[in-house]
Amino acid sequence: MVKSVGLKKIRTAVFISGTGSNLENLVKFSLKKKSPIEIVLIISNNAKAKGLKYSKIYKIKKKIYNYNKNKIFETKTLIDLKSNGIKLICLAGFMKILSGDFIRKFKGKILNIHPSLLPKYKGLKTHERVIKNKEKYSGCTVHLVNSKLDSGRIVLQKRVKLSEKETPLSLQKKILKHEHILYPRAIDKIFANP
Ligand code: GAR
Repeated sequence: MVKSVGLKKIRTAVFISGTGSNLENLVKFSLKKKSPIEIVLIISNNAKAKGLKYSKIYKIKKKIYNYNKNKIFETKTLIDLKSNGIKLICLAGFMKILSGDFIRKFKGKILNIHPSLLPKYKGLKTHERVIKNKEKYSGCTVHLVNSKLDSGRIVLQKRVKLSEKETPLSLQKKILKHEHILYPRAIDKIFANP
């Protein structure tokens, strides 16, 4: 895993597909003096992703690769990552599955946040499944990405209690608040400057 050296921040790309609340949260975190990362690139596989607005707001370069074919997305993205000197990728609501080849090229340098207590509830529609199974707790996990879906080494987790009348939407909102605390903490845990 790459370490930040002194005050030189780690050049980071954030991959998004949707709203981008985690992206904005990570940008705010990166702007703090002691943050180990600087976000220099936003990548999206969805031209309509609401989170793309943060490119303009925070003056961060963005690239949109709206291709069904993974290969084209990855080839174009890899060129950008290289030309921008990216050393860390943070997936933040990125809904495309990256190939083993791509992940190997950035081995140990891709983080993801997932809205469940992994290894439980990998994949999509986590909140619906959690409620259907009458779980008392759910939560969120920051983990390293490997070639198996939502299965890489766990960096940090936060457990969240469900209320009696929890709905998928209320649970999503509740967990999202914790995601915004957990993701920066996980990055600090790995890379923090002294
Ligand atoms: C977040 O809840 C994130 O954990 C989840 O998508 C949401 C994105 O919200 N990610 C996944 O489900 C990945 N499998 P955001 O766009 O507001 O950050």
